[in-house]
Amino acid sequence: MKHLLSAADLSRDDAILVLDTAAELAAVTDRSVKKLPTLRGRTVVNLFFEDSTRTRISFEVAAKRLSADVINFAAKGSSVSKGESLKDTALTLEAMGADAVVIRHGSSGAPHRLATAGWIGGSVVNAGDGTHEHPTQALLDAFTMRRHLRDGAGDLDGLRVAIVGDILHSRVARSNVLLLRTLGAHVTLVAPPTLMPYGVESWPCDVSYDIDRVLPGVDAVMMLRVQAERMHAAYFPSTLEYSRLYGLDARRMGLLPPHAIVMHPGPMNRGMEISADVADSSRAVMVEQVANGVSVRMAVLYLLLGGMKEEI
Ligand code: NCD
Repeated sequence: MKHLLSAADLSRDDAILVLDTAAELAAVTDRSVKKLPTLRGRTVVNLFFEDSTRTRISFEVAAKRLSADVINFAAKGSSVSKGESLKDTALTLEAMGADAVVIRHGSSGAPHRLATAGWIGGSVVNAGDGTHEHPTQALLDAFTMRRHLRDGAGDLDGLRVAIVGDILHSRVARSNVLLLRTLGAHVTLVAPPTLMPYGVESWPCDVSYDIDRVLPGVDAVMMLRVQAERMHAAYFPSTLEYSRLYGLDARRMGLLPPHAIVMHPGPMNRGMEISADVADSSRAVMVEQVANGVSVRMAVLYLLLGGMKEEI
């Protein structure tokens, strides 16, 4: 495989190879010297047209731990703010010899365009495109679930996962539904009707509007941020009403089975989709999700750029 654009690009075997490779690479992260020579001399460009904290830093750390040269390109402060097109930006990166371009863009489909238009020769990794997909987030989430709920090996067969909140605007939800299904898990989406995507009936998952009925039957619950920046209309009456009906607070967390974990891709709106005490509780694995993101992104770059196995 040359690019990673969608979670649907991954077969079960591909996904398990990424997770297994990430597990091997995670061991490197525990050493005092965290660097491998695997991608020495290769260039990875982080091309971020949208704001990001975790994802951009995570890709940067991942590439650096594999000894790649990393160029961080933020649209703000670049010629993009002077009106330069994606094509001209891509041709510039190509002229600089990028072996991989990690792209986050506000338009759904931008990474696909970059990968297929013939502007660049390297690999393209989708780091979030509009409301479409975020495949490496789904991989790090699967990695985190596998560690906590499946002894860190194999697939996620039979695992039950609830994804709760602003599904309509969430690329994290779509990629997770696709990958979790590939790995054998069963997903229930929970949201107010206004934040459920059109055509969700055709997604490979169940749909519910009642979080209290879903929580007792799941192994993991993933809370999503209410993405106000993508909302150009009122989708719910008030913040208070949203958190009362769909937020995860201590009472609701008590409905989960004792082994279940609480996840969130970040950034969190504390007090909105998740209460501060739940976010800080021992069942919340957000910090681990971030750490696992580095291992998973190392695995993706390593596999796409053809690192040498024996160097791990
Ligand atoms: C998510 C994103 O940007 O899609 N965050 C992330 O990558 N960790 C979710 C969000 O912004 O709410």
